[in-house]
Amino acid sequence: MKVYIKTYGCQMNERDSEALAGMLTARGHEITDSETEADAMIFNTCSVRDQAERKAVGKIGFMKKNKQVKPHLIIGVIGCMAQRRGEELLETLPHLDFVLGTGKLQTLPDLLESIAGDRRRVSETGESAEVLTGMGAHWMPEQSWGAQIAITRGCNRFCSYCIVPYVRGREISRDAADILEEARMLVSRGIREILLLGQNVAAYGLGGDLNPPRPGYSPFGDLLEQLAEIDGLHRIRFTSPYPTYFNDRLIDVIASEPKICRCIHLPLQSGSDPVLKRMNRQYTAARYEEIVAALRERMPEMAFSTDVIVGFPGETDEDFVRTRDLMNRVGFDNAFIFKYSPRPGTRSAAGEDNVPQAVKEERNRLLLEDLAARTAAKLQAMVGTETEVLAEGPSRRMPERWTGRTGTGRTVNFPPFPGIAVGDLVKLKLLRAGNIALYGEVAGHQS
Ligand code: SAH
Ligand code: SF4
Ligand code: F3S
Repeated sequence: MKVYIKTYGCQMNERDSEALAGMLTARGHEITDSETEADAMIFNTCSVRDQAERKAVGKIGFMKKNKQVKPHLIIGVIGCMAQRRGEELLETLPHLDFVLGTGKLQTLPDLLESIAGDRRRVSETGESAEVLTGMGAHWMPEQSWGAQIAITRGCNRFCSYCIVPYVRGREISRDAADILEEARMLVSRGIREILLLGQNVAAYGLGGDLNPPRPGYSPFGDLLEQLAEIDGLHRIRFTSPYPTYFNDRLIDVIASEPKICRCIHLPLQSGSDPVLKRMNRQYTAARYEEIVAALRERMPEMAFSTDVIVGFPGETDEDFVRTRDLMNRVGFDNAFIFKYSPRPGTRSAAGEDNVPQAVKEERNRLLLEDLAARTAAKLQAMVGTETEVLAEGPSRRMPERWTGRTGTGRTVNFPPFPGIAVGDLVKLKLLRAGNIALYGEVAGHQS
């Protein structure tokens, strides 16, 4: 059958959708972008904020029309919102055929085929031990330079605002041998950059331990080291590490291995200690800055990005100023700012959501303004220097130019040369800066 998959939420969800697309095509089904041609429509959903859920429910509600014209159409909801709401979604959306949570995603191909036969309405939110197996499948319709590999699933940290541990279950790490095999397979298919995914990648291989690893020991560092040995792989990225898991061993591996990108997404959430404490984040603002300093000491070129929540319950003006000042001191290259959204069942949702919406918006605006000013200055400062990018192909907005990304995550547009291929490393001289990207000319080339 022709299957349409729409994905909401984080990269983990994107990766799951891609693995499911790979499993479905291996069974002879076809993946389609067309809503009207589809025999099955799958919505892979997110629960992290209320808005994420509402967006998906709105879209799925609208699909009732498609079913009126095509009664055999199967509509299913999978992923985090499916896990959180289960059966109730079947009641809310009468045209929905099935709900499949995160615990048994790998059963999607079987489920679709059985529903096509008996048209039974199903809600499945149970857990299964094999969730990590079978998720190594990939679907790469176009020539691509990059691929994602999930190395852990779930989360044990229970930050007080966060729904993820409830909808993704306990933290499990995949076997290193499986991950390495998957990486080698991808590189043999032309992949040059791998992004490792997990809710807390730096806790990889620690058996769900909430304490930072002892000095000299980091299974995540060991994994990075082994991946870096793969010939033909140019770059390794990862997201997201919880700050306190960076110890001497992990920092050492990153510093000694040029294939590991010089940009780290290090979620801060707040720069005020009382707020961090109520969030159940196990570090202080000072500790966070120490970790940044330790990384920068070995790698002065390291770029940082982060996640911040504004308007967490009880966040005062003073708390907010601490966050803003810390962000300006660290000088993040990028930041995702979220307005606090209470999630049913989490610890912080038991209290009052007491920062007014207008205040949340104002704080959000101020942080974004700081960021834009900083980005403009940083890009300008790079003009005149040389950098290396991994070529990603023609730019979407100006197809006569190619685009590439630096190891620190900056986008550069440049005129291509004959014989250039997606995934090549290209040396560029930076000529000028735009608002979000740089422009350069070729200064050297390595395939
Ligand atoms: N595991 C990742 C975060 C996954 S959720 C980590 O710990 O870094 C992505 C981001 O969504 C979080 O970093 C947080 O900033 C934001 N977020 C999570 N729950 C939220 C909520 N209830 N309201 C607003 N933002 C939230
Ligand atoms: Fe959520 Fe915290 Fe786990 Fe990240 S570490 S997924 S914010 S509970
Ligand atoms: Fe990701 Fe949203 Fe689930 S952020 S893990 S898709 S709740």
